[in-house]
Amino acid sequence: MGVVSMQQASFDVQSFRRALGMFATGITVMTTRAADGSPVGLTVNSFNAVSLAPPLIVWSLSRHLAQRAAFEQCQHYAVNVLGADQESLSRNFASKLPNRFADLVWEEGIDGIPLLQGCCAHFEVRNEVRHAGGDHLLFLSEVLRFERFERDPLLYFSGAYRHMAPLL
Ligand SMILES: Cc1cc2nc3c(=O)[nH]c(=O)nc-3n(C[C@H](O)[C@H](O)[C@H](O)COP(=O)(O)O)c2cc1C
Repeated sequence: MGVVSMQQASFDVQSFRRALGMFATGITVMTTRAADGSPVGLTVNSFNAVSLAPPLIVWSLSRHLAQRAAFEQCQHYAVNVLGADQESLSRNFASKLPNRFADLVWEEGIDGIPLLQGCCAHFEVRNEVRHAGGDHLLFLSEVLRFERFERDPLLYFSGAYRHMAPLL
């Protein structure tokens, strides 16, 4: 497809989505606790690093999601970076299942936030700054603790899960 201008009547959300999908990412699951203590989590690929000192990360949350109140109100949450064999976990945390944590193995981080097992990395963060960003809310948060595991990551590109090719 050629150049599509936002001013053109032909601009449509689907082609914008497809163009954004050309940016390959990893997959994370953001986890926290709701006000009643129940665990909450969703699949997110808008995660990115922002700053090393202070250590800051960013991601965006759709304003329309049921999890919005929990993430707006919590003091801490965790970023779980998924491993290559965790595609089913990614699907689980983007699904309509009533309890996404049923049958899952996880440990507790700061404030009891869920840290999922088998990930490539965990970041436990302080929920401080949020900005309106169109139909999403941007979360800019400080990393308080992190852990890294020697595993290949799960990748996402052009609307599909991918795996790293072996190094030549
Ligand atoms: C690969 C992938 C990446 C996603 N990234 C985001 C994201 O960055 N921000 C977001 O708000 N939702 C994202 N979602 C969608 C949410 O995971 C999904 O809409 C949400 O879990 C649905 O929850 P609900 O139906 O209970 O509201 C993504 C979904 C998938 C499959």
